[in-house]
Amino acid sequence: MLAPVIFVTRKSHFNAAHKLYNPKWSLEENEAMFGKCANANWHGHNFDLYVTIKGRPSEDTGFVMDLKKLKVLIENEVVVKLDHKNLNLDVPFLKDIFPSVENIAIGIWNILHNQLPEGVKLHKILLYETERNFVEYFGPDTPF
Ligand code: NI
Repeated sequence: MLAPVIFVTRKSHFNAAHKLYNPKWSLEENEAMFGKCANANWHGHNFDLYVTIKGRPSEDTGFVMDLKKLKVLIENEVVVKLDHKNLNLDVPFLKDIFPSVENIAIGIWNILHNQLPEGVKLHKILLYETERNFVEYFGPDTPF
């Protein structure tokens, strides 16, 4: 009998700077929409990232996936690319993308979803921009 499906989450962290500024708008319009986040000289956040995978525990290990490998994957493919970076300028996978927490989460999904071992699927990207503000992304097929 197949083992049941279970969800497994790894938490990571990075610091990064950005500004939210739409160049099609005036300074006043940007400040009205984005407030302090439109600050011309950037501002930073401490991001908390929760990557949730799903799968069936292995008969041999009891693991859905070796969490050491998930940790290394997230570190090398995501955290190193974002930590202590300027999200508007320094991050190839965010080039020409407005660096809102929503778009960062979507970008992280796009990097990770096809790098998991067979039988393991990416379930959710949960990204905290502040203690009180966070987004959850379940992939492009999420119905609306
Ligand atoms: Ni911000």
